[in-house]
Amino acid sequence: MAQTFDLILRGGTAVTPAGTQRTDIGCRAGRIAALGDLGTASAAEAIDAHGLTILPGVIDTQVHFREPGLEHKEDLATGTAAAALGGVTAVFEMPNTKPSTTTAEALADKVTRAKGRAWVDHAFFLGAAADNIEHLAEWERLPGCAGVKVFMGSSTGSLLVADDATLARVLGQGFRRVAVHCEDEERLAQRKSLIEGGAHPRRHPEWRDVETALRATQRLIRLAEAARRRVHVLHVTTAEEIAFLAEHKDLATVEVTPQHLTLAAPECYDDLGTYAQMNPPIRDARHRQALWQGVADGVVDVIGSDHAPHTREEKGKPYPQSPSGMTGVQTLVPLMLDHVSSGLLSLERFADLTSAGPARIYGIAGKGRIAVGYDADFTVVDMRAERVITHSWIASRCGWTPFDGRRVVGWPVATLVRGRTVMRDGQLLGAAAGKPVRFQENR
Ligand code: DOR
Repeated sequence: MAQTFDLILRGGTAVTPAGTQRTDIGCRAGRIAALGDLGTASAAEAIDAHGLTILPGVIDTQVHFREPGLEHKEDLATGTAAAALGGVTAVFEMPNTKPSTTTAEALADKVTRAKGRAWVDHAFFLGAAADNIEHLAEWERLPGCAGVKVFMGSSTGSLLVADDATLARVLGQGFRRVAVHCEDEERLAQRKSLIEGGAHPRRHPEWRDVETALRATQRLIRLAEAARRRVHVLHVTTAEEIAFLAEHKDLATVEVTPQHLTLAAPECYDDLGTYAQMNPPIRDARHRQALWQGVADGVVDVIGSDHAPHTREEKGKPYPQSPSGMTGVQTLVPLMLDHVSSGLLSLERFADLTSAGPARIYGIAGKGRIAVGYDADFTVVDMRAERVITHSWIASRCGWTPFDGRRVVGWPVATLVRGRTVMRDGQLLGAAAGKPVRFQENR
């Protein structure tokens, strides 16, 4: 008897562990059930994917969705809608909300808030703070927890682990990979006079300079070696850190962002002013080139957007009163596909950086590849589509993107989460039924 499925994607070109190939994909009960020529099989729903490319669902492992407490910038519904519209099937959300996510209750509250409102699957980071260290090993295993996040330098919010002794204690608690924002707090404070009282945003990378980032990354690795703890260095921005981290791949994984791969100083500050301001900063073309080399060499493990929305009113304040951060969850896929179209990376490498990479470094269960038994999460893209990114397309509550007006080749045309189509041709479909991401046991 012919096989039956809930859903078949027919005739697409899929990026699979066995290579990029024309294949049908049969899905049942939210999982991939069969690959290959499913000619005679029937299905309740079929998607004609001829001419389209099917990527394993893109997992954005660094977003700030601002709920609770800062919903005027974003909330879990608007942030995850932006993700689905941008071809992202799962997100890991950061703990610098109000209150910060530093307790089991605050984590459970986010999981509850996401139920019935999140368009994509999700997990939440616990923020490390001086007063919760002894609980981290227990809490990092709670349902919906992505792991522990550390801010070594002050950024948006009040989370901070500035000194080596406290950081060593954090690294000594628990088993999962610790995600770290590496900027050295002491050096940030010493250099703040450079911009205090007002300055052009071009000075942002001078204040938060290369040494600020490198020093923190070196301190982190030294302490991680002593603790024998695996760490993930978020949004790496400097040539010097890439070279250093290449020597520590046994312990450290590396994230870069689309904006650090796309923009460069000083032009971005001249063009965008405070809208180009983020932490760690966008730097000059030498660093951007080194990040691309890290992508090519395999030093970089993952691309995360660091989606960090602030309202136009907030961003319009004079630097440095303007907050750091820019939207990104919706533009990650189009921007990176455009870089694929320009020949800067392959589709396979893109899938590695946004699906297999996140699954590998965080120990995600059942996601990260197009393979039988895995969740039916797909980012369906049209590599021939030429579109322009605009503010009006951005679903994020703050309604702007630093990439307004940018023409790109390659565009997400459908987002499927566990076999349900949540976006097709720019429209959200069905209900917001995202679930907490599951993680492998004993990690
Ligand atoms: O630019 C940034 N914005 N960097 C961060 O580390 C935090 C983020 C935010 O939450 O606004």
